[in-house]
Amino acid sequence: MNRNDHETLAETGPGTVMGALLRRYWTPAVLSTELEAGGAPVRVRLLGEDLVAIRNTEGKPGLFGERCAHRGASLYFGKNDNCKLRCLYHGWQYDLDGNCVEQPNEPPSSQFKDKVKQKAYPCIERNGVVWTYMGPREKQPLLPDLEYLTLPESHVHVAKRIQHCHFTQGLEGDIDSSHLGFLHGHAISLPDSPMPGTAARLGQGAPKFEVKLTPGGLVQATCRTVDDAQDYWRVGQWFFPGFTTIPPRGGDAPMHGHSWTPMEDGTSWVFTFSLHPNRPLLEEEHRRMSEATNFHAHLMPGSFEPRANKANGYAAEGFENEKQPWMRIKYFQDQDIGMTESMGPLYDRTQENLGNSDLVVTRMRRRLIEAARDFARGIEPPAQNPADYRLRPVSMLLPKDAMWFDAVTERMDARPETWRESV
Ligand code: FES
Ligand SMILES: [Fe+2]
Repeated sequence: MNRNDHETLAETGPGTVMGALLRRYWTPAVLSTELEAGGAPVRVRLLGEDLVAIRNTEGKPGLFGERCAHRGASLYFGKNDNCKLRCLYHGWQYDLDGNCVEQPNEPPSSQFKDKVKQKAYPCIERNGVVWTYMGPREKQPLLPDLEYLTLPESHVHVAKRIQHCHFTQGLEGDIDSSHLGFLHGHAISLPDSPMPGTAARLGQGAPKFEVKLTPGGLVQATCRTVDDAQDYWRVGQWFFPGFTTIPPRGGDAPMHGHSWTPMEDGTSWVFTFSLHPNRPLLEEEHRRMSEATNFHAHLMPGSFEPRANKANGYAAEGFENEKQPWMRIKYFQDQDIGMTESMGPLYDRTQENLGNSDLVVTRMRRRLIEAARDFARGIEPPAQNPADYRLRPVSMLLPKDAMWFDAVTERMDARPETWRESV
């Protein structure tokens, strides 16, 4: 990657080319459980901006710029009452749209408040997450039809964590299927009679990769040989700008997806969504997910920082004294976090040596960079239609001569009736 491309991809703050593109999409902002009606404001940093989230006394979520439009006092200390947020310093009061509705320190006859606008972003709450849109109001798209946004809340489990690296660096781990057998191989012991997919995905280091560009982003597929007649295909998606799906592991198990959003360039918010397209998640599944040793990372109490982290070498409890550092990283998610954080917060992509196995990563980067540059030239961003997101991941066995994309199209179509158990 040349220096210019690296910088375009890397910089996401206000006023940057990529930052402008990212602001044209809805993004998860906070978990519903973080906000209490009429309760404490919560600080949120998103896309290099300091924000404050509240739930007003009517239960509606709101997201404000942290600095008061008057003279910049922090609205974190604001009073959340009467369905609005009031700055503690001079009492200016704002509604959820950022309209200034009261200025108690101005003369009663003054119309000044009508000219003042507080930075405020629209919010939609769905299935345990408050989403926001940080772009121009007149361009606000509908919420994307990501499957976990279209299902009943009972079918979805959500969690969030901080990851200390660029959002693309982390999300590339989701679409880079060639690390499965290596990085995760030692975390999984094969059962005596493994499903054919499990055996294939752990047994073969150099699978075949395919990519198909879609209006929402891309579909990526990895093909591994099972026997003379069949191949095992793992198919997942990347959607603009930071949404990934993880191909299912087999049987009736829930599926997973991630949303990656820059907190700033070298730190990201990761929202993890687990879902089952046609049944509520079981108590046992919720419990496993919140106890979180695999797909959902274990968190430090009272924070969104994973318990296995850079400071402790991503070591799992009880494995701190294993001889080599890699042996201490026991769990799936910790392995991914460990590898993508170990590159540093923002790896210099001009230093990489990309091979055939990096096909999906390079196509994803290329699409993001081109979309950002096109947008800077006045071309509208891709994936503005909710239906562009209506695809789900699939893993299945296919005959050797199958046309993979045609063969998975129906099952990828994210409707409850098209879901099938995976292998
Ligand atoms: S700084 Fe907020 S009202 Fe004055
Ligand atoms: Fe991984």
